[in-house]
Amino acid sequence: MSRILLVVSGSVAAYKALELTRLLRKAGHEVSPILTAGGARFVTKEALAGISGARVHDDLWAAEAEIGHIRLARWPDLVVVAPASANMIARMANGLADDLASTVLLATRAPVLVAPAMNPAMWAHPATQANMAALRARGVAVAGPEEGAMAEPESGPGRLVEPATLAATIGAMLADGPLKGRHVIVTSGPTQEAIDPVRYIANRSSGKQGHAIAAALAALGARVTLVSGPVAQPDPAGVTVRRIESAREMLAAVQAALPADAAIFAAAVADFRPEAAPTQKIKKEPGAPPPEIRLALNPDILATVAQHATLRPRLVVGFAAETETVVQHATAKRLRKGCDWIVANDVSGDVMGGAENAVHLVTEAGVEDWPRLPKEEVARRLAARVAEALG
Ligand code: CTP
Repeated sequence: MSRILLVVSGSVAAYKALELTRLLRKAGHEVSPILTAGGARFVTKEALAGISGARVHDDLWAAEAEIGHIRLARWPDLVVVAPASANMIARMANGLADDLASTVLLATRAPVLVAPAMNPAMWAHPATQANMAALRARGVAVAGPEEGAMAEPESGPGRLVEPATLAATIGAMLADGPLKGRHVIVTSGPTQEAIDPVRYIANRSSGKQGHAIAAALAALGARVTLVSGPVAQPDPAGVTVRRIESAREMLAAVQAALPADAAIFAAAVADFRPEAAPTQKIKKEPGAPPPEIRLALNPDILATVAQHATLRPRLVVGFAAETETVVQHATAKRLRKGCDWIVANDVSGDVMGGAENAVHLVTEAGVEDWPRLPKEEVARRLAARVAEALG
């Protein structure tokens, strides 16, 4: 049971704040809403008051007279801005304090979760992206936006995360556990490297192990950013998911998610990509020899983060997929990459895409052979070790 200050700003999606409020109260939380002038265009103060069972704050000077904005800012365990309009995000990024919501957001020391909702063009605009980067760099957690049906004819991300998903994210942020307050980055799945607009190079990684690790870390109370290539796995509850395709996009998403207390690189990143991916489909010409694909080396994401001069997480964990002399190769890889641990698995059997995994944990102290276990159990054990290592 926690105290949540819910800022509702101006977006068509504001009606979803009502459902979110209902779900948060059902989960036992106390919700105190702040309605901005824009938000009040889409949802009434009365509806928000009725569903939250609390007084709705919407006026800086009235709130001042009642409890004072500083007390309001000190009250919550978590501040949730949902929906967060482009304007609300810009005001937060720039530290404006021109209404009650922005003033409280500037004054609070509680963790903040932002769930953007806006027209896809506004979301994609460099100004909004720069504002989001500034908020992330300050440790603001972000949920969404998603792609999908919107009030706008344009397509692309901009849709508010569904209230049930948002409630799960909030639940995870408030969860107690040994990793509470820690941020962990996890990579998962394969990468896809374009040959041309319709073809790509990829691998058989299912994302099962990486996604299970993200879920296990969240269950211990960590704030988790999961950077995933294309997979069929559902998003783990309470985890911020960044979807990418190529290795270079994965590196950019991981770098944007830093700083972190720990990073676990479970993705099967393509070591090589086609050097040039033409924007037109490669055609087969009658009589001509098949085209040759020249490969270029992809950045090593694990090594880049493990050797980062300023933002290296305290614990960096890599995976090694080997088919022979597993432990020997993994031990060498640990040193070469500069990571703390290597989770080594023998992929000569049916591990890729399979439900179980037999791994060896290679640390500075030596090698542990874990029994063959379901991937969820490997994830739970690894998450417990991460918690232990971070103290
Ligand atoms: N990795 C990465 N970026 C790459 C390649 C690999 O982050 N471009 C990470 C993987 O997520 C994994 C580890 O590095 O944690 C695997 O290292 P890699 O050098 O690819 O080794 P293997 O895949 O095990 O195979 P090999 O040693 O044969 O290259």
